[in-house]
Amino acid sequence: MKKITIRHIQKLKGLESPFATITAYDYPSAQAVDAAGIPLILVGDSAAMVVYGLDTTIPVTMAEMLFLVRAVSRGAEKAMVVADMPFMSYQPSIEDAVRNAGKFVKEGGAEAVKLEGGKAYTAQIKAIIDAGIPIMGHVGLMPQSYHIISGYRIQGKSNLEADKIFEDALAVQDAGAFSVVLEGVPAELAEKITVELSIPTIGIGAGPGCDGQIQVFHDILGLYGALSPKHAKK
Ligand code: KIV
Repeated sequence: MKKITIRHIQKLKGLESPFATITAYDYPSAQAVDAAGIPLILVGDSAAMVVYGLDTTIPVTMAEMLFLVRAVSRGAEKAMVVADMPFMSYQPSIEDAVRNAGKFVKEGGAEAVKLEGGKAYTAQIKAIIDAGIPIMGHVGLMPQSYHIISGYRIQGKSNLEADKIFEDALAVQDAGAFSVVLEGVPAELAEKITVELSIPTIGIGAGPGCDGQIQVFHDILGLYGALSPKHAKK
């Protein structure tokens, strides 16, 4: 079966109804998502919480993520697999970013990686792309910044914050990302970014105006009780 590529994902921009994407963390869930015709599976670092039972996404390691990425890649015959770069796997240096993104593709079988951050990480994004690895951005509520944002709170409510998120999304696109996740931002801001960008936006807790939507597998199946995000209908 032919694999979905970033060209396919980019063609999903601006469709009448948003496309669906979802996270998965193991072989059977990847198979189920693939069979449902979902074009893109994210092996999210939300695994820290929903798989490993940690309080935040911060402690999960490359090794712990790599196990899951391998299993999901085996289960996803058609869907594109995107591996989420865990905290401190790309922040310290460009070299770390390229080496760890490379591990996910070479050892994990992923077709792309995702990292949290805007303007501050364009050097990492460009270097990963130069190494031949497609990258998905993630701006707005960035769970790896849990401590600095004082918990999981909607971002971009003030004009200043909204302008920064808008600029971050543009920076990620200009650096070469093939799509960008908009998490936990007001719907009007997500819509404005979606109209402005030429790459698909994928929203979570960002209203209905994005090109695609993403949900955490365990949230929509009601398998995780510690947090119950309002945007995740079971
Ligand atoms: O880790 C994750 O599951 C994510 C999605 C919520 C976008 O980053």
